[in-house]
Amino acid sequence: MRKNIVAGNWKMNKNFADAEALMIQLLEYKKNNTTNCEVYIAPPALYLTMAKDIFKNAEVEVFAQDVSEYQSGAYTGEISVEMINSIGIDGSLVSHSERRQYHGETDSHANRKVKALLDVGLTPIYCNGETLEQRKAGQHFEVVKNQTEVALFTLSADEIKKVVIAYEPVWAIGTGETATPEQAQEIHAHIRSLIAAKYGQEVADEISILYGGSVKPDNAKEIFSQPDIDGGLIGGAALKIEDFSKIIEGF
Ligand code: G3P
Repeated sequence: MRKNIVAGNWKMNKNFADAEALMIQLLEYKKNNTTNCEVYIAPPALYLTMAKDIFKNAEVEVFAQDVSEYQSGAYTGEISVEMINSIGIDGSLVSHSERRQYHGETDSHANRKVKALLDVGLTPIYCNGETLEQRKAGQHFEVVKNQTEVALFTLSADEIKKVVIAYEPVWAIGTGETATPEQAQEIHAHIRSLIAAKYGQEVADEISILYGGSVKPDNAKEIFSQPDIDGGLIGGAALKIEDFSKIIEGF
């Protein structure tokens, strides 16, 4: 079901004490403020159990930053969907650009991970987006089309409705170079039109499509006001409660 979502991708940040402190600040904020969006965090895997304990009344949904495509076995260092499901985690990011860049992850991997999550009732946040070179070459529409088709178009209509999509132009991630609201809106509309062409407009209108890439307190409201933008996947600004809360108030 389509909803407004602000999700914080903590990436590889915070020691245990600092992670606990930020989670408690976020809990207090949620207890004392009404929000017009759902709030998710994706902390480092080491802190998922703590997060579920702190947000035990589901004030904030807790996501992994990655999961294995495999069910179990000899995959050193990986974490399975069943493992995160067994501790009550709500879902996982899939194919974030940093997983693509540093770990060679592809949309075929993403397709298998999305399916593995859906098969146990968890929510995938599927990430895609073009590089600066691809945008400069005018290939961004085609790149995002191919990514979306390979990763998602083997799903049924009922399955794809449960996927959250995060469009994150790589050139905007961590750079302070935010896509303009118009640049973001046109790709979000493009993604939604691709889904409508395959599954019908009713299904396409059910899907939450988030924007990620240098979302900050001073640009969140305008970005979130775009018709096909349903929220944000936040990196750096998720690491300080004063910034993250201002972004949440962008709705
Ligand atoms: O997953 C969200 C992240 O890639 C965006 O990072 O620091 O540009 O908000 P940032």
